Amino acid sequence: AVRGPGRLRFAGIAPVPADVDALTVPEGYRWATVVRWGDPLFDAAETFDAAAQTPQRQARQFGYNNDYLDLIPIPGRGDREALLVANHEYTNAPIMFPPAASAEERQNQRRVTKAAQGMAVVHVRRDAVGQPWRVVVGSRYNRRITADTPISLDGPIAGAPILRTKDDPSGTTVLGTFANCSGGTTPWGTVLSGEENFQGYFRTSGAFAADKRYGLADKATTYGWEEVDPRFDARGAGYETEPNRFGWIVELDPFSPDQPPVKHTAMGRFKHEGANVIVGRSGHVGAYMGDDERFDYVYKFVSTNRMKSGSGSAARHANKSLLSSGSLYVARFTGNSPADQIDGSGRLPADGAFDGTGEWLPIVVDGVSQVPGFNAEQALVYSRLAADQLGATRMDRPEDVQPSPVTGKVYVVCTNNIDRGKAGAKEGATEVNPRTPNRDGHIVEITEDGGDLRSRTFTWSVVLVCGDPAAAGTYFAGFPHELVAPISCPDNIAFDSRGDLWIATDGAPSTLGHNDGLFHMPLSGADRGYLRQFLAVPREAETCGPVIRDAEGTVLVAVQHPGEEGTFAAPHSYFPDYVAQDADPGPGQWRGPRPSVVQVWRDRA
Ligand code: FEO
Ligand code: CA
Ligand code: CA
Ligand code: CA
Repeated sequence: AVRGPGRLRFAGIAPVPADVDALTVPEGYRWATVVRWGDPLFDAAETFDAAAQTPQRQARQFGYNNDYLDLIPIPGRGDREALLVANHEYTNAPIMFPPAASAEERQNQRRVTKAAQGMAVVHVRRDAVGQPWRVVVGSRYNRRITADTPISLDGPIAGAPILRTKDDPSGTTVLGTFANCSGGTTPWGTVLSGEENFQGYFRTSGAFAADKRYGLADKATTYGWEEVDPRFDARGAGYETEPNRFGWIVELDPFSPDQPPVKHTAMGRFKHEGANVIVGRSGHVGAYMGDDERFDYVYKFVSTNRMKSGSGSAARHANKSLLSSGSLYVARFTGNSPADQIDGSGRLPADGAFDGTGEWLPIVVDGVSQVPGFNAEQALVYSRLAADQLGATRMDRPEDVQPSPVTGKVYVVCTNNIDRGKAGAKEGATEVNPRTPNRDGHIVEITEDGGDLRSRTFTWSVVLVCGDPAAAGTYFAGFPHELVAPISCPDNIAFDSRGDLWIATDGAPSTLGHNDGLFHMPLSGADRGYLRQFLAVPREAETCGPVIRDAEGTVLVAVQHPGEEGTFAAPHSYFPDYVAQDADPGPGQWRGPRPSVVQVWRDRA
């Protein structure tokens, strides 16, 4: 059936086999690349040459592995200009570079990867609404944030000893951000970015028990930054606390190109997937956040202050401190069906739903720890341990946790957890994580009591249990299975103007044998649960950062890590340019994949 919001009516595509190296869009739609890894942002003459990368060049180019994405209108500039903001999560050296011929070249490559991560702000322009966006090279807004960009630490524990290093005795200025996964755009026009797998960048002594809870260890890292920058060797004197300065939510104001981004200590430290903000009736703002690890938690931050209305500079300035003071909570979910009806198969219990009630357990309230044995510094730097002590609910890798701007209901995307129920695992099936193992993921819908984001209690139900709809134990909000698309490993979500859910996936090649993609599912009305696939990304890529503009008939996605299993010499993907894929272009000549932002648009009325 042809359905969809506004101008995004489409006939769902069929699943695309995992060896297909193509971006697949619905009939009547076209796609184009907006910006690719390596594209110059400051000077068009600085063209990309994969075999001659330097850290200086990379820091002036669009970065690698784009994840979070948004398109933010520039006030007063109409609808043909915008700022595209993207996260650059990680790097794949074996496909980015030819094999290093010397130790010196190896060190150069490591420095390039430091410059390829972080964030990007890109001024974009288009000829008309609905037409493709193009980069405005050299715009004063264009900006790269890398692993070396100065970033301010703020909030209740900025400057605390636990955050000081020998290079920063004030504990208030960190160099860089990396592992930037998902994020969210605030109502005041800034972008929040989640520092996720920061543990993979540090070699630590292994002496601190709390570090283990974050996966930090005494072993050489894959990125090898500890070989080119001493602060990544946290065994070194004076750098033991450097890892404490990562794992935060970063706020970037794309309209202030000279202002350092800010890491918000009030929002806690864990493997942040992202953070999504909503304004409550009282004017307070809430941010919902997931900690993407098997058996980790869902968090909520509530601001102390109220949002100021208006887009003037005074209001904007005040609103930029809303995430600096507030309260941090972690979720406990309680099911309402007897435990013996939750058997791990995904079969619904007798009351017909995986559902129940929940509480937000306070970790820190207005800067004061609520957890016995933890002061505020410990509760915010080691939020996972504080949440352990409170008895928070272990979830199946919560990725995006995002409120619907239409209904205020919050959607918790649990991507998968292959360890749930395994011998020796922390936990088996629970009503909120009802499958063992959870190969394909699920989505939980939270309704705050009284519709108030400040509420300490809520109700919840599972709306989607992913997988092949023909398989037992899948659930599509009650919609008939014969009509819906297979889906696995949901990760990023977005809402259209109608409040329908759009779901991007990361992991379907290894579970269903399909390329990952973007899916649409209404949350209300007769079509609630009618899940259809809108697009598929190329071989070995993950679909990220969907931006849905249904009034314009336009969707943007970040295509992350295409051809990730290949090498420089033997690419698995040629996306997005598909140049020279049948020919050998000669030694050292680039022909491999480039992670890119892609626009898909409706080509017919
Ligand atoms: Fe970077 Fe949780 O995905
Ligand atoms: Ca139930
Ligand atoms: Ca993710
Ligand atoms: Ca993921």
